[in-house]
Amino acid sequence: MEHYFTDRPQAASSQREVRATLHGRSWTFLTDRGVFGHRGVDAGTRLLIETMVVRPGDEVLDLGCGYGPVGIVAATMAPGGRVVMVDINERAVVLAAENVQRHGLTNVEVLQGDGFAPVSGRRFDVVVTNPPIRAGRATLRRLFQDARDHLNGGGRLFFVARTAQGAKTLAREVAKIFGNVQEMEKGGGYRVYLSVNTGDHRV
Ligand SMILES: C[S@@+](CC[C@H](N)C(=O)[O-])C[C@H]1O[C@@H](n2cnc3c(N)ncnc32)[C@H](O)[C@@H]1O
Repeated sequence: MEHYFTDRPQAASSQREVRATLHGRSWTFLTDRGVFGHRGVDAGTRLLIETMVVRPGDEVLDLGCGYGPVGIVAATMAPGGRVVMVDINERAVVLAAENVQRHGLTNVEVLQGDGFAPVSGRRFDVVVTNPPIRAGRATLRRLFQDARDHLNGGGRLFFVARTAQGAKTLAREVAKIFGNVQEMEKGGGYRVYLSVNTGDHRV
């Protein structure tokens, strides 16, 4: 089976539109085979979007953006800020850029690449991610360490994971990296966590 985190999906393209109500508004997104959640916005993604706290001027990174639901909603919550959306999957990035354009958003950049490589040297107020759990523990650890290192002091990381896919274990790992983690919400088999970059925790 092809994994959704491949950089170049082989699955034949079959674009479609999916609808979702998120953050009190109705949205339509263009999706495709070979991209996570292509049949509809995932339940974990929804919980993350409804739980994340994005302020009007925040600089936000949506890490592993897929076709873009998290970053696009975040961009409407931060009209005076900016959202950068990154994904390793080329097809996802093309879709995300198209969805950004369709929603008329001008405060979003969409970049293709591995983890934080496309945003090297930049810092954010918020990193939000529905992480690629199947990429494995070493990759997740690298992504969360890099998240800490790309957050401003006091910057927030919001992430979601499925309870049955080791959400609590992942949260313990992230707590070691950040020195803190807080469960903000749970429901439908998912948990959303917050870690804050206190600037004084290095492992
Ligand atoms: C669980 S999906 C979430 C997608 C989207 N945010 C959503 O919630 O619908 C994880 C995403 O991470 C991407 N990904 C996997 N490994 C990555 C990496 N090393 N760097 C950047 N993105 C990665 C995958 O391509 C996938 O789109």
